[in-house]
Amino acid sequence: MSESDRERRFDHLFATTVRERLDDAGYAGGASPPAPDAVPLTYGFPYPESFPVAALRDAVETVLDEEAADVLQYGGGEYVERLNDGILAHEAVNGVDATRDELLVTNGATHALDAIGATFLDPGDEVLVESPSFVWSLAVLDNHGAELTGVDLDENGLDPDALEELLERREAAGQPVPKLLYTIPSFQNPTGATLTRERRERVLELAQQYDFLVVADDAYGELRFEGESPPPLAALDDSGRVIRLGTVSKTIAPGVRTGWIVAHEALIEQIGHMAAGGTNTFTQSVLGRYFDAGHYEPTLEGLLEGYETRRDAMIDALERHLPPGSSWTEPKGGFFLWVTLPEGVDAEEMLPLAAEEGVTYLPGERFYVDDGGRQGAADLGDDGVGTRSLRISFSHVSPEELEEGVAALARATEAYLE
Ligand SMILES: Cc1ncc(COP(=O)(O)O)c(C=O)c1O
Repeated sequence: MSESDRERRFDHLFATTVRERLDDAGYAGGASPPAPDAVPLTYGFPYPESFPVAALRDAVETVLDEEAADVLQYGGGEYVERLNDGILAHEAVNGVDATRDELLVTNGATHALDAIGATFLDPGDEVLVESPSFVWSLAVLDNHGAELTGVDLDENGLDPDALEELLERREAAGQPVPKLLYTIPSFQNPTGATLTRERRERVLELAQQYDFLVVADDAYGELRFEGESPPPLAALDDSGRVIRLGTVSKTIAPGVRTGWIVAHEALIEQIGHMAAGGTNTFTQSVLGRYFDAGHYEPTLEGLLEGYETRRDAMIDALERHLPPGSSWTEPKGGFFLWVTLPEGVDAEEMLPLAAEEGVTYLPGERFYVDDGGRQGAADLGDDGVGTRSLRISFSHVSPEELEEGVAALARATEAYLE
């Protein structure tokens, strides 16, 4: 029996959703070619020096010294409550006023989305997503059997006209209106786009009119290093239709696996029931101490500087290296740029060549749900095909490596076009 035969012998036991994607190389971001020497512009990882190691060490010691028996028990103790208070106070600064009953702390934003999927979705239920959108969130929704439909997006975020048209069409054809809209309103993954205030208001009006919920994943909302942020969707909403997701993965560290949901208490109650296995109260206690000791804001300030420097270095390198016919978004925050290469490039096909030249990225097609990425995002400059676009992240490596990575991307593009 060959290795691959052996791997296949369990196939019939997998759930349909799993079976359907066994041969889908692009699923959930797909594989990048192994390229240990290439500059990884692939993932939205924070740069390692950003981690507040000393403050976390102090927090671990303090919570163990002060309430080890509670910290290590199911449910946690006082410091878990301090984290809840810290998050609520912080949300209030963002313009989101919520009570304790409207907050659920989770093991990250992805865990939150999974619990939301379990709470609202039956197999076949429709969910609207931005086109393109964050590939791992799409996978989580897909895990719950959701039918995903893309809504166009441009540099001002989700296009409410396209959304309205889609909803009108659905209604006129007697088709079910989606239950959920999943949006990443600020510094969107993968494009870096931010939804304007007017568009936020239109989206909320449409949610009210067509009776759906808006899942607003604000993973990057606090990472603005230039200009003014529009208010979070939850701050503009008075109908209880916004389910807001937050995470400390980008502002403290992804390894602590902590995020939260702010939503109407009737929704929080049911989502809480579906967040199986409970949450990590040890980490929450540590973070409770971290917030309590006042580390959050000053650390965030430092991060903004670090990310702005990296964004500037990347744009500067793109301007100097990429061939004519290339374009890119210039976000004022977050982790990502969306690059469109000259006509004739297929970013998926070019990836092994780019890895050889010394850079990896995520091909744009992987972020689309419709036609394998062969449509949408025309306004972002990719001719509405997605194929010559890609996402690069400026969050993870040093400015010097960003320079090298972009130079390698330019070399690969030129070699590919020849
Ligand atoms: C839009 C978005 N949501 C959620 C996440 C993941 O958040 P967490 O680490 O809290 O699960 C990411 C990380 O890349 C992201 O880009």
